[in-house]
Amino acid sequence: MSTAATSQAAQTISYADLYSRWERGHWLATEVDFSQDRIDWQEKMTAQERTAALWFLALFFHGEDEVTDDLSPYIEAAPTEEQTYFLCTQQVDEARHAIFFNRFMHEVVGLGDGTTGSGLDATKVHLTWGHRKTFENLANVANKLKTDKSRRTYAEAITNYMVIVEGTMAQPGQHLLESWLERTGLLPGFLDGLRNVANDEQRHIAFGMKTLADMYAQDREEIGQVITDAIRQTGTYLMAFAYPNHGDSTFLDPLGLRLQDLYTDSFRALSARLRGIGFTEEERLKALTLDPSVTFEEQGEKFMRLLDAGYIGDGTRPVSKEPADVDLAFDMLQNIIKAHTPSLGTVVQFDLTDVGPRHYLVTPDGLEYIRDRHPAPSVSLKVSLNDLLDLIGERANPIKLILQRKLKITGDRGLLVGQRSIFGPPPASSARRVPLLERLGL
Ligand SMILES: [Fe+2]
Ligand SMILES: [Fe+2]
Repeated sequence: MSTAATSQAAQTISYADLYSRWERGHWLATEVDFSQDRIDWQEKMTAQERTAALWFLALFFHGEDEVTDDLSPYIEAAPTEEQTYFLCTQQVDEARHAIFFNRFMHEVVGLGDGTTGSGLDATKVHLTWGHRKTFENLANVANKLKTDKSRRTYAEAITNYMVIVEGTMAQPGQHLLESWLERTGLLPGFLDGLRNVANDEQRHIAFGMKTLADMYAQDREEIGQVITDAIRQTGTYLMAFAYPNHGDSTFLDPLGLRLQDLYTDSFRALSARLRGIGFTEEERLKALTLDPSVTFEEQGEKFMRLLDAGYIGDGTRPVSKEPADVDLAFDMLQNIIKAHTPSLGTVVQFDLTDVGPRHYLVTPDGLEYIRDRHPAPSVSLKVSLNDLLDLIGERANPIKLILQRKLKITGDRGLLVGQRSIFGPPPASSARRVPLLERLGL
């Protein structure tokens, strides 16, 4: 389907249609039959399968609880009654999903005393850095919406909830889970409930897409920027949401699934959502900071390598100093810089004290990455790779690093912070989180 046709589809569906689909799609989380699931879990599944499945399902369970809690401000901020009513149905759905997952955790896995709080407590050990950060961010956006019900903030909040959390994280993961259960025939009660959850999510995502497609059609520039900013701000969290803290990316192998496939599917899904909202090819690539010659599979693989190399995460895992890994990180950074087009002849140097200098040069043919020192950079950061990653991950205070002489910046600081920043201008829609090194401007 063409971009225009997809976008039209998102706009043509009405809120009344979505409401009536909800009425027709009722199901009962309290009546899902888990009797065969208990037998499968205890007698048919191996210990490795149970560990992998529990880990993965815990992410969904907590996600459902978080989205239930965060939806109220959306209901208050919705500009029409039709949107308000649909969001009320969605809040009921999300509570039903949390109840479904909690029943599974208690009645099949044997965790908690049956109350949702005890189920959440018993499974929170499995949460990842990316998952925690994504939902902290969603809670912040929801909080902001309580006092700021402007169009911009509403669009930012819908992007975070329906496009990012539901459309990019949850739905591709649900499809992977379904593929495992359909292939093995295991956990029939859970599969039945999961299909109902996925149907509900489809409706929620359709609501978000319609709302954003309508807003975008009215004001392409403003709303397009809000959506792009929201994606940029959550990018690294999003790609780390299913990456285990211990760094073993093969944890899904016992289920015959690959974490890399989840990333590939997530990228593909996010890209399709942006097309559906009406983004042009150029706007879509810019929002995703994607090189058009790289496939979704290659993109997924690159993210896995960055995660395995310890470049994305909470900073507790060892950082790879392998030249190929460092180059890959700078290759990804290159796409971010390309999206913000510094002027011809600009040289941005990273004088990395432990792995050697490298720089980017803006030539008439585009941005060039050179693994060497430039004699006259426009701006240069002298820092270790570890400290640079801590800065990017917002674990280090740049002022403190400068005082400790662990960070030295020479040249045009305006290339790092503010409107001319190579990392992108500060998002107008939010002061919560700023891109990469923006905090250097403190
Ligand atoms: Fe849900
Ligand atoms: Fe949902």
